[in-house]
Formats: sequence, C-alpha cells, structure tokens
Amino acid sequence: MSTIRIVGGNKLSGEVSISTAKNSVLPIIAATILSGNKCIISNAPMLEDVFVLCNILKSINVDTQIDEENNNVIIDSSAIRNADPENELVKKMRASFYIMGPMLSRFGHFKISLPGGCNIGTRPIDLHLKGFSALGADIIIGHGFVEASAKKLKGNKIYLDFPSVGATENILMAAVLAEGETVIENAAKEPEIEDLAKIINSMGGRVVGAGTETIHVIGVKDLKGTTHKPIYDRIEAGTFMIAAAMTKSNIQINGVNEEHLKPVIAKLREMGVIIEVNDCILKVNGDVELKPVDIKTMPYPGFPTDMQAQIAGLLSTVKGTSVISETIFENRFMYVQELKRMGANIKIDGRSAVIEGVEKLTGSEVTATDLRAGATLILCGLAAEGETIISDIFHIDRGYYNIEKKLRNLGAYIERI
Ligand code: EPU
Repeated sequence: MSTIRIVGGNKLSGEVSISTAKNSVLPIIAATILSGNKCIISNAPMLEDVFVLCNILKSINVDTQIDEENNNVIIDSSAIRNADPENELVKKMRASFYIMGPMLSRFGHFKISLPGGCNIGTRPIDLHLKGFSALGADIIIGHGFVEASAKKLKGNKIYLDFPSVGATENILMAAVLAEGETVIENAAKEPEIEDLAKIINSMGGRVVGAGTETIHVIGVKDLKGTTHKPIYDRIEAGTFMIAAAMTKSNIQINGVNEEHLKPVIAKLREMGVIIEVNDCILKVNGDVELKPVDIKTMPYPGFPTDMQAQIAGLLSTVKGTSVISETIFENRFMYVQELKRMGANIKIDGRSAVIEGVEKLTGSEVTATDLRAGATLILCGLAAEGETIISDIFHIDRGYYNIEKKLRNLGAYIERI
C-alpha cells in the first residue's frame, strides 16, 4: 500500500493548473449513455473515480476508451446491454448510481447494486427514487439492489425535499428521454448541474433552468453524439488556495471560475488572505496575519461541504477560536481525530467543530478517512514541522489528479512511497 510522505515547512511559489471537475465529469460520463452514440469528453481528469465509472460502463457493453495522453474519454454506447453492471465496481463509489437515471430513461428498466462511496454519512437515495417514481417508474428495493421499471417514463412535477446534487442530476437525466415535460423544483444549483445540462443540450436534449432552483426538462425522442469539456474543479482550486494560505505563500492558480468559487474566496478574504482574480487566473497571497472565522456549510451558492475539512485544517493554525457547522453530511468530521495527532485543538459538538488555533502543527503518521480528509492531511503536512506520513491515500486518488506532482512543482517536499 502506498503512502504519501511530506516534509513540512517549505514555502510554495509559482503556478498550478487546475483539472476539470470530478463532480462534473462523473454525471457527464453517465449522461453519455442517453446519447446512444459516440461522445468525447475532452480535458477529462484522469482520476480513479473516472476509471471505475468507465469500467462499470464497460461491464454493460459500452465501448469506453481512455486516452490518458490527451486526457480524452471516448464513450460509445450504441451497443449497450441492459444488463446488471459489475457489482464489485458499483459498490466502490456512490456516483455509480448516476447510471440509473439514463438507463431508465433509455430502456425503461434497470437494476443495480446499492452504491458505495466516501464514508461521510448515511447517504440515502430516497430522493432519487421518489423522482423516478414521479416519472412513473415502479421501484423495488431488494437485498442490496434497486430495480426500477416503467412502460414509458412520463414527465411530471417533482419537488425535492432537499436540493440534493445527485438526485437533481439523476432525475434530470431520467427525464431527458421521457414523454412530455418534467419540472424539478427545489433543485440543487451547483455549477456541476449546469455543466450536465450543457452536455445534454449539446446532444440535442432540452433542459432549461439548470443552475437555478427550477429545472424544466422537455423530453426528446433521441439524441446525437457530442464533444464536451467539463468545468474546472472548484474544490481542487479551493484546496490549492488553502495550500497557499497554510504555507504563507504566494501562488498563481490557473483554471478557475470566480463565480463558482465565490463562497470560498469570500471566507478566505474575511480571514485576511489576499486574493486577486483576473479572468480564469487567481493569485493568492497567504503571507499575512490571518483571523479566525465562523463557517456554515450550505448547498451552493453557500460554503461547500467539500471544502469544510481543508478550511478546518487552515483554521487549526490561526490564532483564536473558529466554529464550523456542517449542515450537509452528518459524519464529515472524521478527519478531526487525525488532525489532533498533528497537534490541532478541535472539539466536536454535534454538527459543529470548535477550533482553537495552535502555534504550530507537528508532522505525524495519519490516515486519510475520505477524499477531502486526505487532502486536508496533505495541507496540514505542508504546514507542519517535521515529517508526515499519510496512509489510505487511495481516497485522495479518487478526486485529485497528480496532487503530489502539482505540489512538488510549487516547491513542496512531497513524495509517494
Ligand atoms: N440525501 C438524502 N437523500 C437522497 C440524496 C441525498 O437524504 O436521496 C442527503 C444526503 O445524505 C446528504 C445531503 O442530502 O446529507 C446532500 O447530498 P447530495 O445528494 O447533495 O450529495 P451527493 O450527490 O451524494 C455530491 C458530491 C459530493 C458533495 C455533495 C454536496 C458527487 C459525485 N458528489 O454528492 O462530493 O459533497 O454533492 O455538494 O458529485 C466530494 O467530492 O468529496 C463529495 C463527497
């Protein structure tokens, strides 16, 4: 099993380029099923989650090629079989459930194992299933699997109890080839949903309002192939912004959409970090005195839960008391135990973390408990005194492309051993 070794204390400098977004590319890969033709995802991030989802598609006879040299994923679903996808792969990640919506839309029937994924909460799929039911599907939940069938899906009005990202995406995809119009109310507004609608529309779909709380999907009979470049990864960009702040460095981040990063930029500025944005380039100067802040994670455009652990790592080194409230997932503080090994002073009180900034973190042997927790341990390792060894780094590979290489290019001492 590989580990990541970091010797902390180096300042960072130079430029880093952000990859396209994991959370955009996964639903986009699923959406290519709808087209029944050849689709090319250009500039795709070469992440473990992308490979797993492509292998899931292969297991139902979708021709999937990954061109690592040019960062293209080429998917041809013309010979797809409506068979059970490979269980072991499906269980590896929650995003595998994204293929339910498009398969149901295309074939009126699909059966899949219950999905796995990061251990950050119970993560039910009830909202996805309510949506499929509203479109006319009968749902059977058996031992470890879900099966949905409908003679023909029919558009309907669906109000989501909570603006779930995955449910919005899955229902949207199911509605694309349904008969008539579907309206999703209280939909999630994350930029990744707009990106999904963009590729669907470029295949000939009719989705209006993605990125707002009401999405209209007008069913179409069939779609064509397309080429699409996903949006930049706002969470990867945010993680590098925090790397600069934690190491008191000046860096340039290329490949950002300021709009998508607004809540993170606002919080870091409130702490005192100097941030300049010019088109898709962001300059961060973290070589300043920082102030503690309070943060509450919220659905977009609120502060993203996917940046909660990283900013907690930063606040652990900022003098004073900060409070973070996590409102999206009920179990997203598992990393706290690991940060404590590095000397952080954090107390968990229900869904809040009370952080007392310490003078210095110290290198330690720690374990990545999920993707963003793993990224946070890297950030803390960069700022800590001495050596940090991180195990279970497969979590990090799920969502950060070449993170060690990118950090090494900025001057960090980080290696995979
Ligand atoms: N929820 C339900 N029922 C459902 C669906 C969701 O109760 O049917 C609850 C969840 O349990 C959770 C909340 O709603 O408490 C939000 O879940 P959501 O469905 O919005 O999240 P997701 O679609 O499972 C995506 C990202 C996550 C990100 C969240 C929130 C992907 C592949 N995953 O998950 O990304 O944290 O939205 O923004 O897009 C990550 O990248 O590290 C990550 C976990």
